Amino acid sequence: MASTSIGLKILMAVTGVIFLLYLLLHMYGNLMALGGKETFDTYAHHLRTIGEPMLPYGGMLWIVRIVLIASIIGHVYAAVTLWARAGAARPQRYSVKKNIGSTLASRTMRWGGVAIFLFVIWHLIHFTFVKPAINSSVSSGEVEASPFVMVQSSFELWWMVLIYAAAMIAVGMHLYHGVFSAAQTMGLTSSAVARSRARALGAVVGVVIVVGFLIPPFAILFNLV
Ligand code: HEM
Repeated sequence: MASTSIGLKILMAVTGVIFLLYLLLHMYGNLMALGGKETFDTYAHHLRTIGEPMLPYGGMLWIVRIVLIASIIGHVYAAVTLWARAGAARPQRYSVKKNIGSTLASRTMRWGGVAIFLFVIWHLIHFTFVKPAINSSVSSGEVEASPFVMVQSSFELWWMVLIYAAAMIAVGMHLYHGVFSAAQTMGLTSSAVARSRARALGAVVGVVIVVGFLIPPFAILFNLV
């Protein structure tokens, strides 16, 4: 079942929904930065103590990480297999490639996905595993001690905000088409009305994620936090 094309599409849709739920929680958490240092640092600490004493310190974070790693493996496996099958079905390229009925978002799913994957690796180096003090106004000890200082010192730099803004636009476009595609896989796009509803949902999700994620970096850049 999982290797049939519809099985792979279901795998993509389900893992995509898991990512979306994670992103909504992550975005909500990031918005805590608007409350200032104490609010954000308390929240970041709380993330590690959820479930104690049933779970060890940081236990919930590891459960989330394992679910995300399993989802990424499933999502990428399905994407690459479907991509290879689409290539094998028509080995020679179309001589005139007209993108009839396709959108920029739908045509950039593959390379957009690769770009988002690379962004996540850099993002993990930046904020989770290495935490380099990129801004010379703070020391690596200060960055290590306070998640708020880490985030604030990063987004005081305009070029860092630019990198994140570009990445969030890529994520927003991927979600806009991804939500529509998932709805299609679930059989929710059989009429014109249903299709336009699925597109509208994709647009709302994309805009909420882009705007919600970019509020804290811009608020920091413009000294509002
Ligand atoms: C403006 C946008 C974003 C900001 C400011 C941001 C900020 C952060 C911060 C501060 C952390 C470290 C949290 C902590 O250790 O307490 C983090 C972790 C993480 N972020 Fe983001 N993030 C953004 C967008 C994204 C996006 C779009 C994705 C996925 C596509 C993502 C995926 C992750 C992951 C997987 C982690 C690691 C969580 C863990 O296992 O510790 N982030 N982010």
